[in-house]
Amino acid sequence: MVGVGMIFDETYRPLFESLHHSPLHTRLIGTVEVMLEGIASRTGTRTEALRNRWDSSFPLPTNHSGNDCLAKLLSSKVNCVCVATPDDRHFAAARDSLRAGKHVLIEKPSVLTLAELDQLIQEAAANNVLCKVVYHKLFDPDHKKLRTHVLNGVLSHVNNGYCTLLEPKSISGSQFAEWITGRNPGTYVAVHYLKLIDFSFGPEWKLLRISATGQRGLVGPPLGNTWDSVQLQITYAHPDAREATFDIHTSWVTPDNFPGYVEQEVQFRFDNGIWLAHQRKRGVEMAVEGRTPHDLKNTPNYHYNGTFIEPWGEHSQRGYGLEAIQRFFEEVAHVEFGGPVEERSARLAVMRGLAHNDISADRNCVAIVQAMEAILEEQAAGRPGSFAEVNGPDGGLVLFPRRGNPRVIYAPAV
Ligand SMILES: NC(=O)c1ccc[n+]([C@@H]2O[C@H](COP(=O)([O-])OP(=O)(O)OC[C@H]3O[C@@H](n4cnc5c(N)ncnc54)[C@H](O)[C@@H]3O)[C@@H](O)[C@H]2O)c1
Repeated sequence: MVGVGMIFDETYRPLFESLHHSPLHTRLIGTVEVMLEGIASRTGTRTEALRNRWDSSFPLPTNHSGNDCLAKLLSSKVNCVCVATPDDRHFAAARDSLRAGKHVLIEKPSVLTLAELDQLIQEAAANNVLCKVVYHKLFDPDHKKLRTHVLNGVLSHVNNGYCTLLEPKSISGSQFAEWITGRNPGTYVAVHYLKLIDFSFGPEWKLLRISATGQRGLVGPPLGNTWDSVQLQITYAHPDAREATFDIHTSWVTPDNFPGYVEQEVQFRFDNGIWLAHQRKRGVEMAVEGRTPHDLKNTPNYHYNGTFIEPWGEHSQRGYGLEAIQRFFEEVAHVEFGGPVEERSARLAVMRGLAHNDISADRNCVAIVQAMEAILEEQAAGRPGSFAEVNGPDGGLVLFPRRGNPRVIYAPAV
């Protein structure tokens, strides 16, 4: 594990605890133990606190800290590395881990530029390992059903839609305070919906254009480069040349006393139908004196992640947030133990072909993130209103400022 912050505690920790009690098991792979062997982080403080909290039945991971924490982790006996550092620090950790021959899982957004993405794809290929990205929204049963309806032709030809994901102020104000300067909530959370759109309605279509704007002044100075909220617009062309456009609104300055942890809503309009989903208001509404809406929320989403006492008395933590990570270990187990050694490369190729999480299927999402960050950078420099074109006559990703010459930010085809 590289990085041991909020998402580690929310999803990886409970998954490793659960895998300790119930290892992976299928007819093909047999029983495969998944152990948290070591944690690399800068100070090691949180790892130490966790080591003190785990009871004696849980095998304690080694605490690797300091500037060489990753090198120490990579020289130990690990097969897989999960990268959950801040988003602008994913690339180096993932690249070094792939070079060391480890299978890699990266938290969303995978990386921030297509040049970085190309390097990770190359390293994964050269070292015969998997490099995957966590996109847990694809594991949400509602989203699986949306895609199932699309694949079965029940919903046909998406034309437009909107998605919104609003995080509370505590995220920008305290949780991420250390690394928030220069960052934006679009990169942090719009990617959830970028992948949902790209994966559910693709792959035959083509990404065409990206535009974005945003607001500042709460997390950082009004004219600085740290963003409170971002509105992103992306346009694709279907094979029949008809266009589809989506607006994705994100923020990390929603009041902390908001009734849910995050506000999440989508609406997609098709030739023959409409899909409206509220990811928070799924039917449960509760109030507890003195606790809601702060440490408990009025409209919780227990499908993503919840702690439960199972009907048979066992304490558990489960949800699609954990399933997405477990699936990575299942894919690795399939490559390593799913058949004869001489057929490993065939199994690796099959697992690489899975577009829900393979790094090679992340091109459109990374292109949009790179373009959005470049557009916001222009705006922070006093030049709002630019947009980016994808795979046009001038290059793979080209930024068109409102005034001045276009700038190629990625020359090869996206
Ligand atoms: N899947 C999801 O829904 C989801 C939710 C939240 C966060 N995330 C992603 O997870 C990643 C981490 O987010 P978080 O909320 O846990 O952040 P966080 O700030 O709570 O934790 C970041 C961790 O990374 C460590 N770190 C920072 N720089 C490092 C470096 N160079 N080497 C090693 N460790 C380093 C920090 O010490 C800390 O332990 C981000 O990419 C974020 O986008 C995903």
